[in-house]
Amino acid sequence: MRLTVIGTGYVGAVHAACMAEIGHEVLGVDIDAERIAALAAGRPPFFEPGLGAMLKRTVGSGRLRFTTSMAEAARFAATHFVCVGTPQRPGSGAADLRHVESAVDGLASHIPGSGHASVLVAGKSTVPVGTADRLARRLRATAPDADVAWNPEFLREGRAIQDTLRPERIVAGVRTAHAEARLRELYASLLAAGMPFIATDTATAELVKLASNSFLATKISFINAMAEICDATGADILTLAEAVGADSRIGPRFLAPGLGFGGSCLPKDIRAFAARAEELGRGESVTFLREVDAINTRQRRRTVDLAERLVGGSFTDRGVAVLGAAFKPRSDDVRDSPALAVAEEVRRRGAQVRVHDPEAIDNARAAYPALQFALDAAKACEQADVVLHLTEWPQYRELDPAALATVVRTPAIVDARHTLDTVAWRAAGWTLCAPGRPRLG
Ligand code: UDX
Repeated sequence: MRLTVIGTGYVGAVHAACMAEIGHEVLGVDIDAERIAALAAGRPPFFEPGLGAMLKRTVGSGRLRFTTSMAEAARFAATHFVCVGTPQRPGSGAADLRHVESAVDGLASHIPGSGHASVLVAGKSTVPVGTADRLARRLRATAPDADVAWNPEFLREGRAIQDTLRPERIVAGVRTAHAEARLRELYASLLAAGMPFIATDTATAELVKLASNSFLATKISFINAMAEICDATGADILTLAEAVGADSRIGPRFLAPGLGFGGSCLPKDIRAFAARAEELGRGESVTFLREVDAINTRQRRRTVDLAERLVGGSFTDRGVAVLGAAFKPRSDDVRDSPALAVAEEVRRRGAQVRVHDPEAIDNARAAYPALQFALDAAKACEQADVVLHLTEWPQYRELDPAALATVVRTPAIVDARHTLDTVAWRAAGWTLCAPGRPRLG
């Protein structure tokens, strides 16, 4: 089948490549000509395992092409996926739908005369409940036969390809049987492999995405709140998380305590959801999300405070090494990165900060120009009074604590992600502290 993908950011670039990979003819569309040129040359504009090879394969096969022309998109296919960003509006935290609206308006003006009947616009962007209906009304003015569906994605950065090709569920919010049939046909090979297809109305589909991300964020903040209680009681958060997660009704995943969540989705989505609920007069139903958000950002300050105590109460003239800048490992994304927020606050409190990350240094430098960066972890640690382990890249587990002890000024480390071998670090002479593990310090 033929389809277009409008917006070639994270979701769009991955969706376009994966749809071509499963045999469709795909046209990726974006207003950013530079991005389109890179993608057309098989170069992903961000770090995502496997995406470069898939782009080269699908572009090389001719099944995936790119354009900046909405007129060409309208002529190319009758099915259009909208994957543009929905950033957070300053102040209210509500989702900014400008890009979604301009994508749909831009497409709509070319639908009449495109040669396609029964055009389907399927949204993938995370949007406030009610957006699909609003867009359908908007489309009616220029393209009365076009239909709107909502088909949220649940992909995680770093696992985006496997999440797209082997999703745990496909959610299709539709207004007509025709739209459902179209989406079933597009995903036929995934459905044949046993992926569940949940067909529903558009409001439910829009809400599924926000509810899922809210639940994930709540799990993380819950365990971090428990870490705060552990600190006050002498209990141990890792054992607590393991024991709580062993209950199959709760489950162990998304119970990793530490610095909390960041990235382009969870923080923004819970704020946008809370803002939308207030618009709907149902703010009280999700007030807990404000608390989830507050617990999450509080972990950053707690980590800074812990480090400050370790260096004797003041960062002035202290050297601080930061391991990790990306919001999570296997990503070069620094959007709302807890690690960089901590690094910046430590710098603001007077320390000399040097940050290392295996993939995200360029993005980190652009976002935080006042920070200093090092190209290898040992270099970042030179003359440090404290090392902060803030993003759990697997390579940090391979660091040799004995060797690092010889380059720092004081062998002290905060393991804010709980993935280092505490026994080995302490055996090598380090003072190791971790939030929620008061007996370590
Ligand atoms: C998330 C959702 O998982 C995905 O379904 C949705 O489509 C987009 O948002 P992503 O932002 O890529 O995906 O990252 P994810 O792997 O979910 O991690 C989010 C954040 O939570 C990271 O900062 C991570 O470090 C943190 N996290 C995750 C924890 O602090 N503890 C955990 O137990 C799990």
